[in-house]
Amino acid sequence: MSDSDKSIGFTGRLGFILAMAGSAVGLGNLWRFPYLAAEYGGGAFILTYVILAITFGFSLMVAEVCIGRRTGKSCFEAFGSIDKRWRFIGWLAALVPAIIVPYYCVIGGWVTKYFVEYTIGNGDAVNGTFFIGFISSNLPGVFDNPMTWFLVFVALVVIVVLGGIQKGIERVSKILMPALFIMLIGITIFSFTLDGIGEGLEYYLIPHIEDISAKTILAAVGQLFYSMSLAMGITITYGAYMKKDVNVEKSARNVSMIDTGAALLAGLLIVPTVVAVGIPIKSGPTLMFVSLPEVFAAMPAGNFIAAVFFLLVIFAALTSAISLMEALVYVLTEKANMSRYVASAIVTALIVGLGTLSCLGFGPLDHITFLTEEQTFLDFFDFISNNILMPIVAILTCIFIGFVVGTKFITDEVESSGQFKAKKMFEIMIKWVCPIGLALVLATGLMDILGIMKL
Ligand code: TRP
Repeated sequence: MSDSDKSIGFTGRLGFILAMAGSAVGLGNLWRFPYLAAEYGGGAFILTYVILAITFGFSLMVAEVCIGRRTGKSCFEAFGSIDKRWRFIGWLAALVPAIIVPYYCVIGGWVTKYFVEYTIGNGDAVNGTFFIGFISSNLPGVFDNPMTWFLVFVALVVIVVLGGIQKGIERVSKILMPALFIMLIGITIFSFTLDGIGEGLEYYLIPHIEDISAKTILAAVGQLFYSMSLAMGITITYGAYMKKDVNVEKSARNVSMIDTGAALLAGLLIVPTVVAVGIPIKSGPTLMFVSLPEVFAAMPAGNFIAAVFFLLVIFAALTSAISLMEALVYVLTEKANMSRYVASAIVTALIVGLGTLSCLGFGPLDHITFLTEEQTFLDFFDFISNNILMPIVAILTCIFIGFVVGTKFITDEVESSGQFKAKKMFEIMIKWVCPIGLALVLATGLMDILGIMKL
């Protein structure tokens, strides 16, 4: 990273928090968290997630920010500059965005489709069974084809990246993100008036401990990394831009609270309504798109509110997709010496290629499944990145910090800008609880999924 890059460092704590939260809050919170919560037992998943977020998620975030700030480097050089032999962690981490961004754009396309339908006052059309017909490419007409909207979303991302206007988009989204929060709260309160919501709220809020298994924990851990943008090198790069006098502990705490708050809120809106209106609870990736239209249909001025809501979701998704794509373009321009245009073209080809598989995996390609009968392309890419690669990167990062460089490397950096209140917890988490816990969860979760051992 050159000195001129550093001059665009965040101005203080608020700047850092807003930038990190902007990257963290995205489809992970609004789309992915609710469906996992619904699938893995509601309250049981919420409890697992929150405990992991305030202990492990927080610790790993502190570690990544400090690796970045102390070395002043992006994830590729950061590990290598501390110890050459561990440079591969950075490269492994960088693989994650390459797997995520294509299918992220597929979901972005679905959101765009909903925004357009509501904007033209066509909300009724997306109710009921519309969504299943739509994603399985079964509806006639280009505008009811998911490929169209996937490509529209990719085009939006590429225009922003090539036009060099991400700073503008990010600035706008900093105003729009609080608006998204306010709308989420308002719509959630309205959803409480739906018939049968009590049962849904009970499912979402009351944990049944017996529902927590290694698979639940693995899903929660994967979601945590995804949602907080951890274990993929991104937070290290953010750390490199953080000013030396900003308090790392407080910032990490704030970012993880905002991110978890957004996820819990989105779940509170989506999961109970699913139960209330009798949609199968395990609808997976489709959940948000079948549950929300029901709420909007019951609302006064539902069409208008839905249009605004989906526009805000587009912004949240767009800022995240842009940072993900930027991360990949950066690798190719800096590490493979390509021009920005060539790099962008290659990344776009990757997104369109892998994304097409994910997009068509619900329709024409639905006969191709992976580890389980139901695991389509999108589920597979999601699983490989979140449940396999990211835990591995996290385990390696913990071992690296705990036993190769020592936790002092991190704690000194935190203390250089204030007291580190959770220092003891941090040390125990990074050295022991996280690597051992993660390895166990990864191994048992994998065996279960591969059918070697049923839990
Ligand atoms: N955390 C984002 C979300 O919740 C997704 C994401 C993962 C991301 N990695 C990222 C966004 C890197 C920006 C940069 O949707």
